[in-house]
Amino acid sequence: MILKLRRPDDFHVHLRDGEMLRQVAQYTASQFARALVMPNVPPIDTGPQAERLRNEILQHVSPASFTPLMTIRLTEKSMPETIHEAKRCGVVAAKVYPQGVTTGSHGGLTIDQLQQMGAVFAAMQDVGMILCWHGEFPGPGWLQAEQRMLPEIRKVVDDFPRLRQVLEHISTREGVEWVRRCPDMVAGTITVHHLFLTLDDLGGRGKFGRGGMLQPHYFYAPIAKDDSDRQALAEAAIEPSGKFFLGTDSAPHPIDRKFNVDAGCCAAGVFSAPVAMAALASKFEELNALDRLEGFTSAHGARFYGLPLNEGSIVLEKQAWVVPETVAGMVPFLAGEELSWRVAGIDNV
Ligand code: NCD
Ligand code: ZN
Ligand code: ZN
Repeated sequence: MILKLRRPDDFHVHLRDGEMLRQVAQYTASQFARALVMPNVPPIDTGPQAERLRNEILQHVSPASFTPLMTIRLTEKSMPETIHEAKRCGVVAAKVYPQGVTTGSHGGLTIDQLQQMGAVFAAMQDVGMILCWHGEFPGPGWLQAEQRMLPEIRKVVDDFPRLRQVLEHISTREGVEWVRRCPDMVAGTITVHHLFLTLDDLGGRGKFGRGGMLQPHYFYAPIAKDDSDRQALAEAAIEPSGKFFLGTDSAPHPIDRKFNVDAGCCAAGVFSAPVAMAALASKFEELNALDRLEGFTSAHGARFYGLPLNEGSIVLEKQAWVVPETVAGMVPFLAGEELSWRVAGIDNV
């Protein structure tokens, strides 16, 4: 069986820089026509920095078949002029990282600082730049961090009704329902891994877990929640409203940042780019919703971002394969697991 979809977009990816970028960019570019490149590692706080990273990315992928969409991080130093300059440099979105909640967020914003950002949000609203949220409350209460952040975001939704905003990598039923209740200017991205895993898998006691042992490569932010949350995300991913779309949040880390015996700690992030579209086809088939996959990957996000739909297609084929244990020297998402679909190729016309 063959499934031909309009070429998809990934509205949340970490491509990194330097050697890591060189290694990982091809996995995104071989499936996605465009990807929204996150600004945390390396830190990208201005338009010129985003331009430099875009040029570096384009040394590794063909600009004819892949377009990186650039973002900047909002910091306490961001000013309305930062937004105007970024807009002139072609930046499409700016991202809030609450302080200390994820990889590269030590320079992120406290709730107090967030409340001082009104002029910046107003500038974004004026120039039509999208505001992306890592939606976790900074502070204690890890498992409730997403729910606790929603009222903070809602204040910005109410104060800036023409500002388009995205709740990134939704991880809870409450997050899904909150996006549904918000005006049309608010959307949410859903990752591949949040559709597959629950906290049990991270703890080595779920379907994908192994022998009660902690699974570092299933550790990411926001952390996997329970099965009811996972089901709510699946329902959102297949709904035709246009409010939910794919952002893989593929976030590669060198292996010694995931399994470092000396440091005794593990970075948050899952390298899902190598399996993204194959895993999604397998999941949507399981959900009896293969006909909804194209909306999720290739239409809803582009429409929300005001971009034309991609030309060309990606061809998926129903053929079982086992995800390799390592890709580019890292452990990819679902390593060692069997997937029922694979990417057969790209048709650029
Ligand atoms: C991301 C990373 O490694 O950059 N990690 C993650 O677990 N999602 C950061 C992020 O998106 O929060
Ligand atoms: Zn994040
Ligand atoms: Zn991310």
